[in-house]
Amino acid sequence: MRGAAPRRGKALADLGIIRDGALLIRDGRIAAVDARGRIESLRETRNARKLDLGGRVVLPGFVDSHTHLVFPASRAAEYEQRIGGASYEEIARAGGGIHNSAHRLRGASSGDLKRRALAHLAQFATHGTTTLEAKSGYGLTWESERKILLVLRELEREQPLDIVRTFLGAHLVPREYCNRKGKTPDAYVELICREWLPQVAKENLAEFCDVFCDRGAFTVVQARTILTAARARGLGLRLHAEQLARTGAAQLAVEMHAASADHLEKISTRDIRALAQSNVTCTLLPGCCFHLGLAHYGPARKLIDAGAIVALATDFNPGTSPTLSVPMILSFACAQMRMTPAEAISAATINAAYSLKRHDRIGSLEVGKFADLAAFDVDDYREIPYYFGVNHCVLTMKRGQIVYAREGPGRT
Ligand code: NIG
Ligand code: FE
Repeated sequence: MRGAAPRRGKALADLGIIRDGALLIRDGRIAAVDARGRIESLRETRNARKLDLGGRVVLPGFVDSHTHLVFPASRAAEYEQRIGGASYEEIARAGGGIHNSAHRLRGASSGDLKRRALAHLAQFATHGTTTLEAKSGYGLTWESERKILLVLRELEREQPLDIVRTFLGAHLVPREYCNRKGKTPDAYVELICREWLPQVAKENLAEFCDVFCDRGAFTVVQARTILTAARARGLGLRLHAEQLARTGAAQLAVEMHAASADHLEKISTRDIRALAQSNVTCTLLPGCCFHLGLAHYGPARKLIDAGAIVALATDFNPGTSPTLSVPMILSFACAQMRMTPAEAISAATINAAYSLKRHDRIGSLEVGKFADLAAFDVDDYREIPYYFGVNHCVLTMKRGQIVYAREGPGRT
């Protein structure tokens, strides 16, 4: 994986495969990458420690650009209710869904949240992910939103994967603000803009701001207000857009020059055209469609063919996509959205890195970038999505350090 970012159209399928390749790593960065014979003949290689991956497929570590990493508990009971016929939105209206998670998170200690997230981070590494974005959004009070962002900041220091923090105070209007006198959804929006966002910026709690702009969550007008305030505080912008209904959120992402518009299952042909002409990354989250049992997936083919920047992510969260496996997301993308394996891999590495404004450092295996990589025990990269539901990742490296190895560090 090498070449320019972001990838649009045909360039998305261009992996730049090197057969029998090798990498030279110095101080956590890639110093050279080429055919093995050439790397072995470099003078600097003579003193290097050799890690033989035995002809396995090596990719840049996955960049998971949309996760809700910190949550208090699973929602397996709601899963069963949905199987019984209740819809995601019905459960949310009855006080379940995000309200359920927020209620439990407010009562959870930072220590408990951290322990749970640490276990999940170890599993991310096991599946080849080396950088992930993580949102707040299960607090919906200042104290608990801040608690999540501080947990994320501590996690970033205490374990090897990179975590990019996003403030999602506008995940849902908390129940306290549902049209009681003086406490309206607009009052909550104002609270976020006037009090929370300045504090997020002041304490450097997050790099991005996200809004769930959809039916039953925030309107386009409210989302515009929040994103405008976030931009004024120097935050990058992301949007949950057009998942449950077409509301105009994708056009808002274009208008606001957001870094990413995510979900997009319900976008129109006009939206596709507008996104394709913009620099907004279209982050598709097929894990949601699978887990919610929906027949309709995001229009990956149309977006790619129109020239949009397409990325893939897990959306790891307890309500709609409880998976942290990017390989599983690749399988969904290929089988359900007709992305080729090569397109799916680019979407989950270099384009995802672009959406996080980190494509200068991660997302491909090129000289000067971090030595973030994952090795898979397959003969052909296409077998990663093909043999679905199985984790083929045998080794994950972050900045030159092995952070996961299935069978010890390999043959040295
Ligand atoms: O990306 N859509 C909003 N947020 C999550 C779901 C959160 C939840 O149900 O807990 C998503 O799908
Ligand atoms: Fe999400």
